[in-house]
Amino acid sequence: MAHIIGGINTSHVPAIGRAIHRGLQDDPYWKPFFDGYRPVQHWLAEARPDVVVVFYNDHGLNFFLDKMPTFAIGTAPSYSNADEGWGIPQVPAFTGEQDLSWHLVESLTEAEFDLTTCQEMVVDHAFTLPMALLWPDQAWPVKVVPICINTVQFPLPTAARCWKLGQAVGRAIRSWASDARVMVLGTGGLSHQLDGERAGFINKAFDLQFMDSLVQDPTWATRLSIHELVEKAGTQGIELLMWLATRGALGESVRELHRNYHIPISNTASGLMLLEPVA
Ligand code: DHB
Ligand code: FE
Repeated sequence: MAHIIGGINTSHVPAIGRAIHRGLQDDPYWKPFFDGYRPVQHWLAEARPDVVVVFYNDHGLNFFLDKMPTFAIGTAPSYSNADEGWGIPQVPAFTGEQDLSWHLVESLTEAEFDLTTCQEMVVDHAFTLPMALLWPDQAWPVKVVPICINTVQFPLPTAARCWKLGQAVGRAIRSWASDARVMVLGTGGLSHQLDGERAGFINKAFDLQFMDSLVQDPTWATRLSIHELVEKAGTQGIELLMWLATRGALGESVRELHRNYHIPISNTASGLMLLEPVA
């Protein structure tokens, strides 16, 4: 059966795409951010995942306000970038792991999670930037399965529901008849708010507590309502739901191998965590 070798959570601020495009990795503004990814890149070179299951939120590219699935999964043979711009260079298409996609669709439906199945899908900055941060040469050595969680239009799924989705995805991966080494990636957050009176809002104390909780008390955030989470993390900081789903997939306990937290990147608190399941 397939094996989950680790989980990575990272922010996905669009400005990162522009910085990559302009080669600003050693610029004083960007260096503390980009340097945070080096230990994770080294871990990936050793751990050699075959497949990455990516929890991310689509920002209006596949799903707009007229049709908004709470949870959706890609089952496509390949996924291309069709981002909104922001200076991200076009990245090579990502190859889908269709066998795992369909195994997840079947297992999750059986487990009472009925995801919208997308046989065609394009991916935005929330997918491409984390991949480009993990594999800067963009010669993707992995196949992918994208899973989208709606954080764009209310009502949003509760933190508890996202945690349970992550758990169900973890069980399904571990029951996949394959010897693949699977990694889970969650993208979004941490605290930020792009609009309204609180635009620019960042909550470092909350972010650090949330990061700690993923190791020490992973259901901590599930005890907060969506409105409480928005109050603490900001309207877009609610993207931390992806981190929770990723953590849920990793099982009972995890070891923290690496973390970076840097504020601000653009108007956003950027975070990075590498977690390894403890058997
Ligand atoms: C911005 C957009 C995002 O999707 C995000 O997660 C953080 C920041 C932005 O437009 O700056
Ligand atoms: Fe976002």
